[in-house]
Amino acid sequence: MPLKTNTTDAGGNGGMPPSRFHVQPMPGADFGGMVEVAGIADARAAIAAAEAEPDTLPEALNEARGLLLLRGMRAISEDPELLVRLSRLFGSEVEDYNQTLVAKNNVHQDVPEIFMVSNVPPAYKKPPARPNPPLTEDGKLPTRFPHRRGWHTDQSYRRPPPDISLFYAKKASPEGQGQTLFANGILAYNALSPDLKARVDGLIGIHASSTIGRTEYAVRAGEPPKDIQPHEAPQRQPVVRPHPVTGEKALYMCEAGQMDWVDGPFVGLEPGPDGEGGKLLYELMRHYTRPEFVYVHEWKDDDLVIWDNRSLVHAATWYDAENIQRVMWRTTVRGNPGPEYAGEKRSWIPV
Ligand SMILES: [Fe+2]
Repeated sequence: MPLKTNTTDAGGNGGMPPSRFHVQPMPGADFGGMVEVAGIADARAAIAAAEAEPDTLPEALNEARGLLLLRGMRAISEDPELLVRLSRLFGSEVEDYNQTLVAKNNVHQDVPEIFMVSNVPPAYKKPPARPNPPLTEDGKLPTRFPHRRGWHTDQSYRRPPPDISLFYAKKASPEGQGQTLFANGILAYNALSPDLKARVDGLIGIHASSTIGRTEYAVRAGEPPKDIQPHEAPQRQPVVRPHPVTGEKALYMCEAGQMDWVDGPFVGLEPGPDGEGGKLLYELMRHYTRPEFVYVHEWKDDDLVIWDNRSLVHAATWYDAENIQRVMWRTTVRGNPGPEYAGEKRSWIPV
């Protein structure tokens, strides 16, 4: 499914006025789209235009295989509810973080659909550590697993898992720090060898929150798994996930910090970090994060990046939190996880 460029009829609305939205391929990547809005400079007006043709941006996201960038969305900073309005175009429900056991200091005080990822009080979230060594042999930012760690898809330890995340840079880190890395699971799946395709077909991953003592790090350190409540339990997810709209298959998995390394990472394969399952996960993640499947986003203030958690993984990078203030706002959209999850109760809500 090649990305349409200059999609003046992105809404497919024959006889209707042409779309205001134009999508260009993302520079430096084999997936993703940069959205421009014709004749509109202000983000508030752009969001109103998106609401007037509500299928355009979700369709553009699918055509771009799960990644869109909109720059200059400053109006969101002044009116955070605009981010929620835009989010609603991508699914039937925007998560209310006050309802879902998220620490209150990470939730926006006026708009509970906004999760704050920031080192600034009251959020106080630290960036990840730098990789070891901090740069590749040729002096570049490490992106490939296992040199680069932290690859995950949001909230995969929940069933049903969410669909889309929107991430807005209210105050971005400077270039060269605090990037977000994206790897495309559709491209990665399509490029699997026939042998690996056969191995992952029908395979089930066991995903776990990093907070319950089942990460690779916790297991290697010999930490006993924590006693957990049923709503915290690890969740099983297919490793190959067909996209519910396009049907394109994507690899769906995380690595050290968001799989269950006690009973998993895969059902039916020898468990633990050094087991057959762990070895397969390392092989798959090395493949998933090959340079041709990866896009590095260098943030500018007022960038908005939208990604599809059903078909991409992402990773955060280090920034100098002692000297830099970084403020990012995220919303999470759910509602179309695919037929496999039809009618399921939410695993993360205490009974
Ligand atoms: Fe994330």
